[in-house]
Amino acid sequence: MILPFEKQYKERYYQLLDEVFESNFWSDGKMTRAFEEKFGEFTDLHACAVTSGGAGLLSILEYVDVRGREVIVPANTFWATAQAAKKAGAKVVYADCNRDDLCMSYADMVSKVTPDTKAVILVHIGGHIAFEIDKIAAYCKTHKIALIEDCAHAHGAEWNGKMAGSYGLAGSYSFYATKTMPLGEGGMVVSQDKELIAWMKKFRNYGKEVINGNVVTYPMKQGFNYRISEFTAALGIAQLEHLSVILEWKRNLAQKFDQIFDNRVRFPKGMKSGYYKYIVFDENLSEETGKVFNYTDFGNEIEGIKLDLPNSYWVAEHHKCAPIYYGWDKAGLSTEEIKKYLKG
Ligand SMILES: Cc1ncc(COP(=O)(O)O)c(C=O)c1O
Repeated sequence: MILPFEKQYKERYYQLLDEVFESNFWSDGKMTRAFEEKFGEFTDLHACAVTSGGAGLLSILEYVDVRGREVIVPANTFWATAQAAKKAGAKVVYADCNRDDLCMSYADMVSKVTPDTKAVILVHIGGHIAFEIDKIAAYCKTHKIALIEDCAHAHGAEWNGKMAGSYGLAGSYSFYATKTMPLGEGGMVVSQDKELIAWMKKFRNYGKEVINGNVVTYPMKQGFNYRISEFTAALGIAQLEHLSVILEWKRNLAQKFDQIFDNRVRFPKGMKSGYYKYIVFDENLSEETGKVFNYTDFGNEIEGIKLDLPNSYWVAEHHKCAPIYYGWDKAGLSTEEIKKYLKG
């Protein structure tokens, strides 16, 4: 995999780095504020930058306080999702997915709810919004269960103009090196709830906050260090300015793929995927980028628990990903040429 970062974005980054050096703040300063503000504008949510997507999930779970309670997570996702709940002291309950969107099944989630359920973490697998998000969000609201959105794959994902992270209590984006908006490392907690984000900004800094250059300390038992550096924030600003180019590039390639693949994830009306992945079923491809997850990645498998999750195991076996990473060298070919290249 390659990580293209064109000259003008490098120049923008270097210009922002100069500002960091001039500011004399290398952490929790103006650049972090500006990155949060810009990401907040992009998602139309309030935002708090953190060290990783996993740290973002853990922070939200600490806010909800899931210790000793149950948290429902999908089995078919990266271990980070379940692990965040375990680190926050919860008992993890694994739910099955749907075959059409690979995301958590509403029916299976509801069947797993008990009086002990405190939160549900929904993962927007592959770069689109979970198709059953509205039903899941409504259920969680009625039953006073905190809905947390794992947006690690979902940069740019929107459904009828609503972005990932705006359906539940809060969402966590990852900026890990392989993600649609890579910074190497980093994460962003987003929420409609201004108070939650204000809490988060203290939590990520041991209960401290820098206000107008002065450190203010609040009594906060849970606080820890999930700050990002000003250098990462500067890269975040440059990369966020780059994101529309990345998304357009991926969406153009996806339009070609749509004409090539019948057996693929099909989106409902109004859905715009960020195309972290382009997911197909049972295709033979000359080049592929593997799977979003193998069954051996499932949280229950890692914990050594055998569970009846038929759709998750089916999907793990039958899906794979066509190459849609930014910069794929065949993307400029015609649809016919790509078809010939990928399908022979
Ligand atoms: C679904 C999912 N959730 C959470 C994470 C964790 O993000 P990070 O590596 O930034 O902690 C990842 C990937 O790394 C992921 O794929």
